Amino acid sequence: MRPGDEEVLQLVELPSPVPGPGEVLIRVMATALNRADLLQRQGRYPPPPGASQVLGLECAGVIVRVGEGVSPARVGERVMALLAGGGYAEEAVAPAGCAVPIPPCLTWEQAAALPEAALTVFLTVFQLARLRPGEALLVHGGGSGIGTTAIAMGQEVGVEVFVTAGTREKCNRCRELGAREAICYREEDFAARLLDLTGGRGVDVVLDSVGAPYLARNLAVLAQGGRLVLIATMGGGEAPIDLRTVLRKHLAIIGSTLRSRPAAEKEALVAAFLASFGEALQAGRLRPVIDSVYPLAEVADAHRHMAASAHVGKIVLRVS
Ligand SMILES: NC(=O)c1ccc[n+]([C@@H]2O[C@H](COP(=O)([O-])OP(=O)(O)OC[C@H]3O[C@@H](n4cnc5c(N)ncnc54)[C@H](OP(=O)(O)O)[C@@H]3O)[C@@H](O)[C@H]2O)c1
Repeated sequence: MRPGDEEVLQLVELPSPVPGPGEVLIRVMATALNRADLLQRQGRYPPPPGASQVLGLECAGVIVRVGEGVSPARVGERVMALLAGGGYAEEAVAPAGCAVPIPPCLTWEQAAALPEAALTVFLTVFQLARLRPGEALLVHGGGSGIGTTAIAMGQEVGVEVFVTAGTREKCNRCRELGAREAICYREEDFAARLLDLTGGRGVDVVLDSVGAPYLARNLAVLAQGGRLVLIATMGGGEAPIDLRTVLRKHLAIIGSTLRSRPAAEKEALVAAFLASFGEALQAGRLRPVIDSVYPLAEVADAHRHMAASAHVGKIVLRVS
């Protein structure tokens, strides 16, 4: 695929991918969009070495073949999988430990929309930033796939989740989904409002994908011992920093990308996620918010929809 706007997205015939040792081949029923797909399509986010050049970081489907070292008994299993790429396809390869059984309460579309956002939030907010019950979290982009997932996971463990979003409608949806409060950043300064809402204390963790324009305010809203986790720089990548604030408040600034991590690390992450959230998943308390479902053939429209940023939750592609 040559890089470019939505028109470069076209259905083409490719050979079936072959599962290597420790991998499974999945017949894909559904996949979901992630913001990174838009960047990859534009040629601004190349896949990590060895990963499929085809877009798509997650999918749900049926295991049809296993690589060396994987039990053949897994053939026929209905799984949802975290992928390093290749999800926008009829068949995709995943590390065996990144493909986990779908709870009966989830549809193909819901299962396809879960892995990337849930594992990113689990890794960054709960593992790296060690958010604990009773603490408070701020997530920018509350209506995003990441934001809606963070609201659900925060509620599950008993943390207050504050979010920012670009419109009043999105803020209302985020409150309905369980956000303690949603701040429309186009109408008011999120930092001033958040400090007001928390009696001047602020929050323990900030999950940020905006970057430079928010850095100073993110540090300002962190409570003593607070942690800022940066997962993207949608608004810019360079900003001055007042190190005295970091020192005085004992802050930590953490960066993370999930896609580039080795398969073994992702498999360990999946196992840890299931140990913490598996019961909520089985019980149907942790379901992704689905904004819309497009047939794979209409992937260009799905990308336009995400680029317009009017969605709340995940945008799904139905494959078969
Ligand atoms: N590092 C990692 O491992 C990792 C993994 C997954 C996702 N991410 C990142 O997390 C973010 C959310 O991902 P997603 O797939 O959930 O995205 P998404 O559903 O497309 O939502 C992104 C939202 O961010 C908001 N936004 C704020 N500032 C923006 C800006 N300058 N440009 C564009 N949008 C802006 C927009 O909502 P409003 O209009 O309401 O502000 C937009 O709808 C993305 O930046 C993505 O790259 C990182």
